[in-house]
Amino acid sequence: MSAISLQGISKRYPDHVAVDQLDLEVQAGEFMVLVGPSGCGKSTTLRMIAGLEDISAGRLLIGGRDVTHAEPHERDIAMVFQSYALYPHMTVYMNMAFGLLRTSNLLRSEVDQRVNEAAQRLQITELLQRRPNELSGGQRQRVAIGRALVRKPKVFLFDEPLSNLDAKLRSHMRGELERLHAELGITIVYVTHDQVEAMTLGTRIAVMDRGHLRQVGAPMEVYRRPADRFVAAFIGSPQMNFLPVPQRTGQAQAWLGEQFGAAALRPDALLGLRPEELTLSSPAGTPACALHWPGVVQRVERLGAEAYVQIRVDGADVLVRTEADAPLLPEQAIVLTPELSRLRLFDAQSGALLACRA
Ligand SMILES: Nc1ncnc2c1ncn2[C@@H]1O[C@H](COP(=O)(O)OP(=O)(O)O)[C@@H](O)[C@H]1O
Ligand SMILES: [Mg+2]
Repeated sequence: MSAISLQGISKRYPDHVAVDQLDLEVQAGEFMVLVGPSGCGKSTTLRMIAGLEDISAGRLLIGGRDVTHAEPHERDIAMVFQSYALYPHMTVYMNMAFGLLRTSNLLRSEVDQRVNEAAQRLQITELLQRRPNELSGGQRQRVAIGRALVRKPKVFLFDEPLSNLDAKLRSHMRGELERLHAELGITIVYVTHDQVEAMTLGTRIAVMDRGHLRQVGAPMEVYRRPADRFVAAFIGSPQMNFLPVPQRTGQAQAWLGEQFGAAALRPDALLGLRPEELTLSSPAGTPACALHWPGVVQRVERLGAEAYVQIRVDGADVLVRTEADAPLLPEQAIVLTPELSRLRLFDAQSGALLACRA
């Protein structure tokens, strides 16, 4: 039985469909990340799970129970928001205890024990008597998470909880969330527009686009075998290159035809290759593969550990990752060859994945 089951869930506004017939099963103990660009319906989906938004169509089960029309407090979930939503006039202790004292039948001593345990786990014990305005952004975020933990809900919902933190703290908090998830074995649905967060945190990720679910899978599976061009371009940074099949060299076409069959010979097929899946060589040598593209270096960005080279190929820009000290200069002629075990073929019109070797 799934921890959460979304069955054809839709959210319709009078002039707009925010979420369109979403099907998604979240397993118990899973860290499910809903990821997609701003406005694609992530928060709306999460708010429907929480009961903060009416469900226009479809069915929602939590722990096997139909809660499509249940009140938020009947769903056994806890939600952590981007804005933290702490009570400014209450101490950290009371912010964490308040919900339990008000809505549960727990004894004061049990509430006290839960708050202390959560505070210890989140390393905020020494902050319990402070007020939110005396805390840093990272500390406030911990309090918001602590308030969810003390309720011991079936499911934790997070809506962009790290977006207000700086990059260093965000990375640190990613580690903390990973640890909490592993130690407590809790079920999490986590919303973010940040594909790095999705890749690093998710047991599985669900990629959304304009109200539609495009793909669900383990992060590396989605990275290697994106279901379509949208997912291919959205997951991965810098993003995947899309190159036309070289038309001038019949050899390349023949080779691709052998690999992929008729799909490769369509004039509108595009090859999808990530910056780390292309190799640069001198035009003087013989390319290792029948499939290759001549290009001209535009820019070299040396980042210290690696370099990104922008190359003009047939009027389009292609980005290639290479060694930091590769001897490359603007205007230099170069040849690109693909890593053959990573070839993907997309339909340029529909964006559908036609074939994939990765
Ligand atoms: N109350 C509302 N009325 C009409 N449209 C809304 C309302 N709330 C959200 N939307 C629209 O629904 C879409 C999805 O919003 P949202 O779920 O907040 O996106 P995300 O969290 O992925 O950025 C957006 O186009 C947004 O403008
Ligand atoms: Mg949102």
